Amino acid sequence: MDRAIQWWQQGQDLEKEKKMDEAISCYKSGCECMLKWLPYDKIQARASDLKRKCLEYLDHIDKLKKSMEQKVPAAANGSGGAPNKKSDEDNSQLNDAIKQCIVKTVPDITFKDVAGLDKAKQALQEAVILPRMMPQLFTGNREPWRAILLYGVPGTGKTYIAKALAAECKSTFFAISSSDLVSKYQGESERLVRALFEMARAEERAVVFIDEIDSLCSARGQGDESESSKRIKTEFLVQMQGVDKNNSGVLILGATNFPENIDPAIRRRFEKRIEITLPEWVARKQILLNNVKKTKNTITPEQMDQLEQLTELFSASDISVLMKDAVMMPVRELQRAEWFVEREGLIYAAKPGDPGAYQGKLLEQDGSKVAIPDVTIQHVVQAIKTCKKSVGKKDIDRINDFTQMFGQEG
Ligand SMILES: Nc1ncnc2c1ncn2[C@@H]1O[C@H](COP(=O)(O)OP(=O)(O)OP(=O)(O)O)[C@@H](O)[C@H]1O
Ligand SMILES: [Mg+2]
Repeated sequence: MDRAIQWWQQGQDLEKEKKMDEAISCYKSGCECMLKWLPYDKIQARASDLKRKCLEYLDHIDKLKKSMEQKVPAAANGSGGAPNKKSDEDNSQLNDAIKQCIVKTVPDITFKDVAGLDKAKQALQEAVILPRMMPQLFTGNREPWRAILLYGVPGTGKTYIAKALAAECKSTFFAISSSDLVSKYQGESERLVRALFEMARAEERAVVFIDEIDSLCSARGQGDESESSKRIKTEFLVQMQGVDKNNSGVLILGATNFPENIDPAIRRRFEKRIEITLPEWVARKQILLNNVKKTKNTITPEQMDQLEQLTELFSASDISVLMKDAVMMPVRELQRAEWFVEREGLIYAAKPGDPGAYQGKLLEQDGSKVAIPDVTIQHVVQAIKTCKKSVGKKDIDRINDFTQMFGQEG
């Protein structure tokens, strides 16, 4: 704590000497130090006082940066302007990089395609869709959510629901994955984060979706942390704070498998933290049906209900994959067949001894006449047995622990 206060004092001295860059970096280091220490402060009143101070400094950093940005063009106009040209070029490169992250082709998924996840859908509606359609509902203290974190075991639909939101929200949708940010634009990442938020704020309504956010915002202060990753996190904190303050039209949506790795200060800024759970039977059934409805099948609702136990603890993605396998099985049966029969101009697979059956291979048949068998419940049962679930108990327990401490079930 004392170290943080020292950083801040040093920052103030440097600011008086008009060494702005150095002052900002001291203020930032102070905030980082303080935010790392705050969760361990047992004296409630002091902690909240220090937290307020921290936020004030984050705001101050924002203001200093803005005033520096305004000064740069004026200075450059007077004296040659070469460095300014370079920074213009840099900025336009960054802006181009961000423009690539705007989702332009509307995904053909809607909220209806997303099975279950009612709480997450409701929160996203409250944050994005309703405020656009009925702004009069969100007056006074009723403000739309600013930042939502979706977390859960893999394959439960975090990215999928974000895609559905991109299709339905009619706002500008920036989709950025942290690995992109960190790897592609090394050294530039921190500026990229800033530019991303600035572009989002310039829109009337925008959603900034950051997938796998844990890799961008893991807890600070670990030994293996690089300088650039520290800077990204601080920038992220500053920007999220800025969004809190003066940007009513921006929703930040984060998704992660490892919510416990997210930095506590960043976690706090996600007002809603919703667990994207493994699907209940109703949702599993919807995914099973959706994946077979366009293929000819003989599966009855009663037969489908037999699958409830068999698919327990399967993720939504596991079920989509196993259904792909199930609908492919009739093709495999044809490939394996050694007997065929021709009826009313169509060729079917047959058993030895069937009336009119003859021996042969699939590839020897007249392709245009080959008929494919319907998908049956046995195909699905067989697929369930061959496709294993991908989520382990350890992961489920880990996510449950996080939900108990910091989140809510979705
Ligand atoms: N709720 C759902 N309803 C219907 N299909 C779903 C649902 N969730 C996932 N799926 C299917 O599973 C696939 C994978 O889901 P998705 O990529 O959203 O998982 P994820 O939660 O983002 O996983 P990860 O944590 O590994 O990134 C989707 O493309 C979709 O086909
Ligand atoms: Mg995902």
